[in-house]
Amino acid sequence: MVPSAFNLQPWEIIALKSDEAKERFFKLAYNQPKIKEAPVTLILVGDKRGYDKSNPVWEEMLNSFGGDENVVKGSQDMAAALYGTKEEDGLKFAESNVGLLASSIMYAAKYYGVDSHAMSGIDFEGVKKEFGLDENKTVVMAISLGYFDESKELYPRRPRRGYDEIVKEI
Ligand SMILES: Cc1cc2nc3c(=O)[nH]c(=O)nc-3n(C[C@H](O)[C@H](O)[C@H](O)COP(=O)(O)O)c2cc1C
Repeated sequence: MVPSAFNLQPWEIIALKSDEAKERFFKLAYNQPKIKEAPVTLILVGDKRGYDKSNPVWEEMLNSFGGDENVVKGSQDMAAALYGTKEEDGLKFAESNVGLLASSIMYAAKYYGVDSHAMSGIDFEGVKKEFGLDENKTVVMAISLGYFDESKELYPRRPRRGYDEIVKEI
């Protein structure tokens, strides 16, 4: 149920479950042990061109808005203007939406008692090639998921910056 811009859901997930798939990713994630230890690691991929007319969500939007083609056309034009003018905008579109997806997955996992670990210590271009992703795709991050091993001790939670440091009320 993660929200996304225009509900375009510009993402896909590669779920690494087999030993063979994990091995392929492990090497591109600087041999981080959690990739082999966790039962599943997700590679979260964003679509920098997810606003294109080929996205089936536009068809759904047409139905959801009672077949009003003007609503869809207006939204398509606006999305193309917002995200399709500069490369940087397309990347922001993909990464902002996938960032929210990532965070939501981590909270949802915790709700079900599953711990998670986000990773961006990965060879993004290498992953793109290894898993056959096209030019419009961007690898945003990976998330390993698994149950906490009670025999292990976690590092203490590091402090976070405070409200006054990060919020400027104006
Ligand atoms: C986008 C993102 C990328 C991260 N990449 C890595 C990574 O590649 N390897 C790793 O061990 N931890 C990674 N981390 C975990 C952070 O280092 C960790 O969340 C942070 O140090 C705070 O620690 P805590 O979450 O245990 O409090 C990443 C976290 C985020 C949100």
